[in-house]
Amino acid sequence: MQKIKLFDTTLRDGEQSPGVNLNFQEKLEIARQLERLGIDIIEAGFPAASKGDFQSVKEIASIVRGSSVTGLARSVTKDIDVAWEALKHSEEPRLHVFLATSPIHMQYKLKKTPDQVVETAVEMVRYATKRFPVVQWSAEDACRSDLPFLARIITEVIEAGAKVINIPDTVGYITPEEYGDIFTYLKENVPNIHRVDLSAHCHDDLGMATANSLAAIRHGATQIEGTINGIGERAGNASLEEIAVALHIRKDFYQAETGLTLPETKRTSDLVSKLTGMVIAPNKAVVGRNAFAHESGIHQDGVLKEPTTYEIISPELVGVKQNPIVLGKHSGRHAFRTRLVELGFATGDQQLDSLFAKFKDLADKKKEITDDDLFALVLQKQIGD
Ligand code: KIV
Ligand code: ZN
Repeated sequence: MQKIKLFDTTLRDGEQSPGVNLNFQEKLEIARQLERLGIDIIEAGFPAASKGDFQSVKEIASIVRGSSVTGLARSVTKDIDVAWEALKHSEEPRLHVFLATSPIHMQYKLKKTPDQVVETAVEMVRYATKRFPVVQWSAEDACRSDLPFLARIITEVIEAGAKVINIPDTVGYITPEEYGDIFTYLKENVPNIHRVDLSAHCHDDLGMATANSLAAIRHGATQIEGTINGIGERAGNASLEEIAVALHIRKDFYQAETGLTLPETKRTSDLVSKLTGMVIAPNKAVVGRNAFAHESGIHQDGVLKEPTTYEIISPELVGVKQNPIVLGKHSGRHAFRTRLVELGFATGDQQLDSLFAKFKDLADKKKEITDDDLFALVLQKQIGD
């Protein structure tokens, strides 16, 4: 079974979500929870971006011990120096340095020729490895880059000392098949690639970040980057909880696993949502309020007889403690009777028929029937009798 390292960037790419601004205490709280969740690498911020970012990366790097801590740097010596000051007290100082490789970024943003980009990348990786034992190099906008050029620059930065090579889909443009093909191409065309971890970093602009990350694993990625709840720039990053649970549930297919403590998933998701103010869609995979709720009578009947009829993920696996049966207008007698019994009301068949009819009338007027509604129904019935 291949071990997949999880690189969490909730505190860096995730914090780039419009409207999100975490203070120092909040970042620390999230970092500690990521450590409990079993994240391998926490990207704690971008130290050169602001004094606040510098302080929180420094603090997280000196406190967190169960996960490696890293910080982002542009390909300039000043950023690398600042990152070193922030990260030097971490257990194994790790730098994440990036440079764009797509024609569009090189021409319009960097205003550099491809040769100049190779030269800068090599120079910065060499500079960083003088101090950092682990340097991750990212080819920004890799998925819109020319593949032979990508292979050339990666070969050179590995020679310069990079230990992790990241292939970001910076603008969320790639499809799973194409992303997999890029990993295969690099494995076949970068002679020293066996020396490094290959990492996937996907954005969700076309809603394919999770699928793309999983495709990368099928084609040789050994590290996956993402955020909790998929927060991040624009449509966000890949959701780490979705990827980890997909690998767990379909390990027969992926032959890969992460080291996450999955029952910590829901708690982590709730904390990130609360502190960032980013509400989770009710139908969000794995952590949404409805992810384990059944409303239709047919599904409820099946789940009450045997949960696996309609549940591929057990709520306990990800730390969800909720009654999966939601009573509403689609619910059937089986679920209705079960809930009454759970509430301590044993009813005969005749009584059940008339209560069930009243329940259906009420459910036509109300989206969800709560336990209080059921108490009221039973009470009315008792008074009526
Ligand atoms: O999406 C991206 O390209 C990034 C890089 C800085 C790795 O976040
Ligand atoms: Zn990103």
